[in-house]
Amino acid sequence: MSHVFDPGPVGEPYASLIAAYPGTDVYPADSFRVEWGPIFHRGRLDGTARLLVIGQDPAQSEAVVRRILVGEAGHRTQGLMGKLGFDRSYVLINTFLYSVYGQTGGDQHKDDPGIVAYRNQWLDAVFGANQIEAVLALGSLADDAWQKWKQTPVGQGYSPGYQHVTHPTEPESSSAGDPAKLAAAITAMLQNWNQALEALHPLITQPDTPGPLVPYGDAFAPDELIEIPEFDVPAGLPEWMRSPAAWAQRVGSTAAAKRADITITVPAGVITS
Ligand code: URA
Repeated sequence: MSHVFDPGPVGEPYASLIAAYPGTDVYPADSFRVEWGPIFHRGRLDGTARLLVIGQDPAQSEAVVRRILVGEAGHRTQGLMGKLGFDRSYVLINTFLYSVYGQTGGDQHKDDPGIVAYRNQWLDAVFGANQIEAVLALGSLADDAWQKWKQTPVGQGYSPGYQHVTHPTEPESSSAGDPAKLAAAITAMLQNWNQALEALHPLITQPDTPGPLVPYGDAFAPDELIEIPEFDVPAGLPEWMRSPAAWAQRVGSTAAAKRADITITVPAGVITS
């Protein structure tokens, strides 16, 4: 069996951006989980991306895989990109390089000049190296990131289709473990996503897989949660780390303990002997 993998940001202009990534001087350690390192992207860095997705910040699965949007939010996003006809020609970056720590860390630091300037360099690089047809911002911090870049001289030179959608794990955040609230919040999110898809789908001229727009129903159908492709992840990553199973958890009885501990559990059925 032949395997494919993503070599990561090895070529320019990305390699130089990686060489100069910001640390605690720009991302304060009381608001970001800097100890888990920066996580930069997922998807094509070879000039073939036509869809850009801006996420928020990496969670625990991303800290292990070293690619963004590979956990629950990532599987939902993979399905959303698929609805626009993209199963390969995309690139995803986050608003923040490091995982946000605490409830207000993101809002508190969204205007920090060093954070904005470094992210804008990535956006300059992505637009300079690709023919981006459409941009999806996941959540209000990603929308803010996009609006900030659009005000820059480089950003003013591009006008792709753009939609700001509800963040893929907003239903979990807003429902606080209440199953009825969660179901209602998922329905509301999918309605929001359908509106964005209706606006963007007609603008896509070169999808990977052309076809009519198939809107979401009231809940995710099984084939709307799509496994992270092998060609998006580093060489040799176990297959189950690309599955929707919740294999990485922050563990501990306090926020500080959870910050220090990501427990990885091989999903049931993977070990067979
Ligand atoms: N993981 C990410 O990398 N980004 C998000 O926005 C959510 C989860």
